[in-house]
Amino acid sequence: MSRTTDELLVGRLVVVGLGLIGGSFAKGLRARGVCREVVGVDLDPQSRRLAVERGVVDRCEESLAAACQGADVIMLAVPILAMERLLGELARLDLGDAVLTDVGSSKGNVVRAAQAAFGAMPARFVPGHPIAGSEQSGVEAANGELFKRHKVILTPVAQTDAQALQRVDRLWRELGADVEHMQVEHHDQVLAATSHLPHLLAFGLVDSLAKRNENLEIFRYAAGGFRDFTRIAGSDPVMWHDIFLANREAVLRTLDVFRDDLDALRDAVDAGDGHHLLGVFTRARVAREHFSKILARRAYVDAMHSNDLVFLANPGGTVRGRIRVPGDKSISHRSIMLGSLAEGTTEVEGFLEGEDALATLQAFRDMGVVIEGPHHGRVTIHGVGLHGLKPPPGPIYLGNSGTSMRLLSGLLAGQPFDVTLTGDASLSKRPMNRVAKPLREMGAVIETAADGRPPLTIRGGQRLRGLSYAMPMASAQVKSCLLLAGLYAEGETSVTEPAPTRDHTERMLQGFGYPVTVEGSTARVESGHSLRASHIEVPADISSAAFFLVAASIAENSELVLEHVGINPTRTGVIDILRLMGGDISLENQREVGGEPVADIRVRSARLKGIDIPEELVPLAIDEFPVLFVAATCAEGRTVLRGAEELRVKESDRIQVMADGLLALGAKVEPTPDGIIIDGGVLGGGEVHSHGDHRIAMAFSVASLRATAPIRIHDCANVATSFPNFLALAGQVGIRVAEEGQP
Ligand code: S3P
Repeated sequence: MSRTTDELLVGRLVVVGLGLIGGSFAKGLRARGVCREVVGVDLDPQSRRLAVERGVVDRCEESLAAACQGADVIMLAVPILAMERLLGELARLDLGDAVLTDVGSSKGNVVRAAQAAFGAMPARFVPGHPIAGSEQSGVEAANGELFKRHKVILTPVAQTDAQALQRVDRLWRELGADVEHMQVEHHDQVLAATSHLPHLLAFGLVDSLAKRNENLEIFRYAAGGFRDFTRIAGSDPVMWHDIFLANREAVLRTLDVFRDDLDALRDAVDAGDGHHLLGVFTRARVAREHFSKILARRAYVDAMHSNDLVFLANPGGTVRGRIRVPGDKSISHRSIMLGSLAEGTTEVEGFLEGEDALATLQAFRDMGVVIEGPHHGRVTIHGVGLHGLKPPPGPIYLGNSGTSMRLLSGLLAGQPFDVTLTGDASLSKRPMNRVAKPLREMGAVIETAADGRPPLTIRGGQRLRGLSYAMPMASAQVKSCLLLAGLYAEGETSVTEPAPTRDHTERMLQGFGYPVTVEGSTARVESGHSLRASHIEVPADISSAAFFLVAASIAENSELVLEHVGINPTRTGVIDILRLMGGDISLENQREVGGEPVADIRVRSARLKGIDIPEELVPLAIDEFPVLFVAATCAEGRTVLRGAEELRVKESDRIQVMADGLLALGAKVEPTPDGIIIDGGVLGGGEVHSHGDHRIAMAFSVASLRATAPIRIHDCANVATSFPNFLALAGQVGIRVAEEGQP
């Protein structure tokens, strides 16, 4: 790659120390043509020779003074403990305007050494640390691509020159690195915990075992676990010896905390305290899975060069078969909440292993509840009682899940500790005043960001008072939030809803032996009772089944059975609406499971017709409108929806986002402030955007059954929040949708 002089970022780059990291930095920048000249300095003549031979540098100098004359950027890539001497030598040279930077794995010691050598931290010295280790070493392993999509942390100090910082930042970005800026102390603390401590433990464990078994016989019996745990004990001993001496204080702090935790584990083993062990192991396992997901996502992003997951839905198809969609999201959330607050062990079956319900599960783990699973939908919750939650170690991240945030805010308002609830970009835009306001009336102290948006900080230790609340909107989340707060409030809490909304909280509280009275549109609880552990069977989610109810209705020649679907009357609006449109849907094998009615639902193709959707059905089908809009585009005549302004504040503005997508496919639709008008007709193909809304992505997948050309649906990763195996089940019954690029 050749560049004009104007484009050159650096005239002369000097790299002192031609090991793996210094060599890779030199080689990468040289190959990208961003330096007029790359000069290497190394004490070892072999490394200097190899560096030139392998094109790592243009030339080498033995003398630091000669190399640094006229340098623009000087990269210090020597071992950490050699840094002090090197900085001393540099301080005696006239470096002109040269920018200095380094790659040391700990930063506090480098800054101190620079201050000692120069009398003060030079403004043009930008400390840095690329996190791109490898068991390989030496200039022969230099790789110009080593830093691509790896993190590089720069740790400027107060006096660091902004231009110098920007220059170093640009160089790393040229190499494809993901650059972050951090304070020196923070860097050292984070690295001590995530890198230095594990190395210390690996070296220490292997040595400890080896010492006790001089002939190393026991390693013959070591298997994968030992190999994986101790891989890093194969790292460079001298380098690591340097790191521990350089980052002593931060390592000691994290080691002391770990020693306490290890002692607690030892005591648990000694005392036969299985509960403690299970708590540590289940928490560790999810933390580890979370880390693996981050790694996998990085690999995925690497492969795709973007994080836009695209579904490609090919036109046509018939829908046939018998399937069971995953567990109900609303009931799954509540099973974790009430199971955690109950006394005794609650078993849950059919739990939805989607990201939203898992966010709730993780929140309770963070608050000290031991939860086993989920494994094939089974979860075991070791309840801690209404007053047994512990403060979480930090803010609770709830991803995309509005239900988690709203229900938790009520429950947490009554705890003795402070909690902050955060979420992803979509959740961070959703209105929380609808819960914060009535909770404040009960005496809760809640801080929100501007306009009542997340994050929410809920102050603990407040005395809550019962409230009689008439909800301004029909929201099961608000109702449930206040009932959960009511478990902790003095006296009685009652909530009156303007229209019926899902009543899973009321049913499940009763299932856990907690008295709830429901009279007309008012539900009441009072504090002072307790929850008894229970067994919960989560039915299949009618909101997930809805995609297939519409699919089999609109596709030619179709017949599908959806097994074990929850048909709680507060959720069956989608069946009523489809039947009013002429849908052929029958309920078979109706029964009650754990306080919730379920049935197998048979659906056959039908000639749908447009209708005025009765407003009283809106809250009973609130999550199903995206796919019902698809049904309406395939129906004969006009469908009109009114009284559904709540759709504008879901995971996306579902009225606008669906209207935009349907228009892109050539449908005739007109959004209104509280609904939509859709004229049935022909659907074409095209590009649509789900705006990260799971239900929009799935609705457009279903639309392909009646489209005349392929539909590309952008931003589909959040389908995993409610329906992780959607593509598999869709494919199984005949919907031709898959991740783009996959067979
Ligand atoms: C839910 C209630 C509804 C629904 C959401 C789940 C619940 O929200 O849209 O997906 O589990 O209580 P609103 O209460 O905002 O209507």
